[in-house]
Amino acid sequence: MSEQIILILDDDLNICEILKEILSSRYTTIVTTSASEALEKVKDSPVDLMLVDFNMPEMNGTEFISKAIAIQPDVASIIISGNRNINTAIDALHTGVYDFIQKPFMDISALHMVIENALVRRQLLIENRLYKQNLEEMVRQRTRELETKNQELHQSRNRIIGILSRAAEYKDYETGQHFQRVSEYSGIIAMGLDISDKEVGIIRQAAPVHDIGKIGIPEAILLKQGRLTDEEFEEMKQHCLFGEQIMKSGTFHPAQLIQSGDSQTEGTYSDELLETAARIAKSHHERVDGSGYPEGLKGDAIPLEARIVAVADVYDALGSSRSYKNAWSEDKCQDFIRQNSGILFDSNVVFAFFRNIDLILNIKESITEKGKTCSYIA
Ligand SMILES: [Fe+2]
Ligand SMILES: [Fe+2]
Repeated sequence: MSEQIILILDDDLNICEILKEILSSRYTTIVTTSASEALEKVKDSPVDLMLVDFNMPEMNGTEFISKAIAIQPDVASIIISGNRNINTAIDALHTGVYDFIQKPFMDISALHMVIENALVRRQLLIENRLYKQNLEEMVRQRTRELETKNQELHQSRNRIIGILSRAAEYKDYETGQHFQRVSEYSGIIAMGLDISDKEVGIIRQAAPVHDIGKIGIPEAILLKQGRLTDEEFEEMKQHCLFGEQIMKSGTFHPAQLIQSGDSQTEGTYSDELLETAARIAKSHHERVDGSGYPEGLKGDAIPLEARIVAVADVYDALGSSRSYKNAWSEDKCQDFIRQNSGILFDSNVVFAFFRNIDLILNIKESITEKGKTCSYIA
């Protein structure tokens, strides 16, 4: 450690000289009898410790010390006090002064001990502060890393959702445009409801995988021209449960995020996007009057996101050509949705749909592949 620097300030030159004599063998000393000159020295160079007389003509010792601390916050200070000022000097201890030394100096080793203790205490305080700063910086750094990881995880989930909806297109006659439109319609409807922007975004992202479960349906049923038999339709209904299972398989133990060992943790990782997608896949054919499938849920028992996708999905299917029917006119599609408000579809969802019908029509116009047919069966 480099030699420590002690500033000695006393308006009595004799005291200054005595202290310099005692301390200069161990420390570098700066000596002055003027408080204003001492402040200039504190401004000019680092000081570890100040020995300051209490009674001085320009300002008293505690006034000087508070001014010096404003310049060098880490500097330690000791008041030099005559007997007459002893109580005031002791009071100064409450204002951040480390200690006091009584004049005249009777015990040199005690003087050294007081100074040494003050320097050690100062060093500990500095180290403690640096440690806290370091710790805070480490926490900030770790938080930034976690945020980045979360973002990466979120982006990769989004990509997986996109890939899954593409996979569903390959297995089905549904066009990519159907999935895109259902996604956009669902987002627009969700916007018209009293839910947060974040939830709107999640519903919009999750909607395209509503039929992902069709991956598990035999092609003979999925690609059949014309209507399905009752048995085939029963099998077709299974796509809702298959879809739910596929999306739920994306949940995992948190420990798997960090390591692939045997670590077991209670509960599963919560991911709103995958969980929402699972609810949509399972319940997008439920109808508010209980006539839907797979569970025959009624009203609010059907998850809101599934009630939203139900309107978006049916509206789009009606307006598209199928292997067994031509596309319905726009008026007929809208009439069907309107007439089934509160019967097949949630009336609030239908209201939100019509409130933003201009946006819906814009999407319909902009995401349309002419001449392509779909095999919507529901
Ligand atoms: Fe479906
Ligand atoms: Fe669909």
